[in-house]
Amino acid sequence: MTALDLSSPVAVVGTGTMGQGIAQVALVAGHPVRLYDAVPGRAREAAEAIGARLDRLVQKGRLAGAERDAARARLTPADDLAELADCALVAEAVLERLDVKQRLFGELEEIVAE
Ligand SMILES: NC(=O)c1ccc[n+]([C@@H]2O[C@H](COP(=O)([O-])OP(=O)(O)OC[C@H]3O[C@@H](n4cnc5c(N)ncnc54)[C@H](O)[C@@H]3O)[C@@H](O)[C@H]2O)c1
Repeated sequence: MTALDLSSPVAVVGTGTMGQGIAQVALVAGHPVRLYDAVPGRAREAAEAIGARLDRLVQKGRLAGAERDAARARLTPADDLAELADCALVAEAVLERLDVKQRLFGELEEIVAE
């Protein structure tokens, strides 16, 4: 397995506790990150919550303000799964239900598989 180029967009599907954490790690590492959640508006709320967490890291001196600004600019909420088509990696973080995860992977295969 080769390392993912930093220019490669990473998608996170499901923007609860896990999804936000994964998105923040990918963002701070330098990737463009796209967030999608089945509940309308939740990806946008998650982007705001991640932004607020980055603000706290800046306040604590653990992240430079310029890095926070660049990370925020790389973070995009998506309204539709189709917007993840060009992502090089999709992290699934939806609720713990096999039927929901299986359906999602079926939909993702149609969108991101080459
Ligand atoms: N929270 C943890 O500490 C933790 C630790 C290890 C593993 N996990 C696993 O990670 C996954 C997510 O857990 P969580 O705690 O973040 O859950 P959560 O309830 O905080 O978030 C789940 C999110 O997924 C969204 N969602 C549900 N169905 C969806 C779909 N079809 N498409 C897109 N979004 C959908 C929900 O709207 C919600 O925002 C679960 O499988 C859980 O078992 C969680």
